[in-house]
Amino acid sequence: MPSKLTPTTLLLIFALLFQTCFGASANPLYHICSSSENFTAHSSYESNLKTLINSLIYKTPSIGFGSASVGKYQNQKAYGLALCSGDMSASECKTCVSDATKEVLNRCPYNKGGMIWYDNCMFKYLDTDFFGKIDNTNTFAMYNVRNVTDPAMFNYLTKELLSLLAYKASLSPKMYASGELKIGGESNKKYIYGLTQCTRDLSGRDCNKCLHDAIRGLPNCCDGKEGGRVVGGSCNVRYEIYPFLKE
Ligand SMILES: *[C@@H]1O[C@H](CO)[C@@H](O)[C@H](O)[C@H]1NC(C)=O
Ligand SMILES: *[C@@H]1O[C@H](CO)[C@@H](O)[C@H](O)[C@H]1NC(C)=O
Repeated sequence: MPSKLTPTTLLLIFALLFQTCFGASANPLYHICSSSENFTAHSSYESNLKTLINSLIYKTPSIGFGSASVGKYQNQKAYGLALCSGDMSASECKTCVSDATKEVLNRCPYNKGGMIWYDNCMFKYLDTDFFGKIDNTNTFAMYNVRNVTDPAMFNYLTKELLSLLAYKASLSPKMYASGELKIGGESNKKYIYGLTQCTRDLSGRDCNKCLHDAIRGLPNCCDGKEGGRVVGGSCNVRYEIYPFLKE
């Protein structure tokens, strides 16, 4: 039997096309649900978490970062933060944080903690105060499968670029830095593009430390790869051989 195109299916097709063409709703890169404890429906924790989320959706976009805690009593209190990539506009940031908060609650229903990462933002919530501490347990890495031709030199230059960007990010108010490094000769100009960013609850010193730990993780995931990222709960580094930022 031939299927009929109802208005609903047309709408769906349009939505899918729109999504693919304009990236209206990107897929998460990764998520982690905290294994500690679950909360119950209609509990104080749930209502505090919802208030926290609304507050972060409201306050994050203007400066690209927001942190808050909601609740009076310790075992009902929810802590959270949201961070947008340094090259996001306020409206892109808002879209990403709204999607992220919805999606992590879908993926971690009733978990007292969870984290989710996208290209454009990340969101983390927990039932304990994690602000100002480097999170080096919740991390993951991604890489481009393609290999470079001269891995030793390429790895060395990537590390140089990212170390400089780590230092810059740790001194900047947005705790974000991006830049590129020319590689290859005049006849064969190529660049490595890099990005470093920390959540702004960290001190400058801890930001630099977090980023250096991430850079030290690159040989494990991304040795000689054309692109790589080490992403964590407090900071992330990324490099590619093409410009990947909006700026
Ligand atoms: C929390 O809930 C999930 C599924 O809803 C379950 O798999 C998990 O075991 C629960 N965790 C605890 C600590 O009760
Ligand atoms: C890259 O190098 C690794 C290790 O030498 C090899 O296993 C892999 O197949 C290479 N990848 C590509 C896309 O050529």
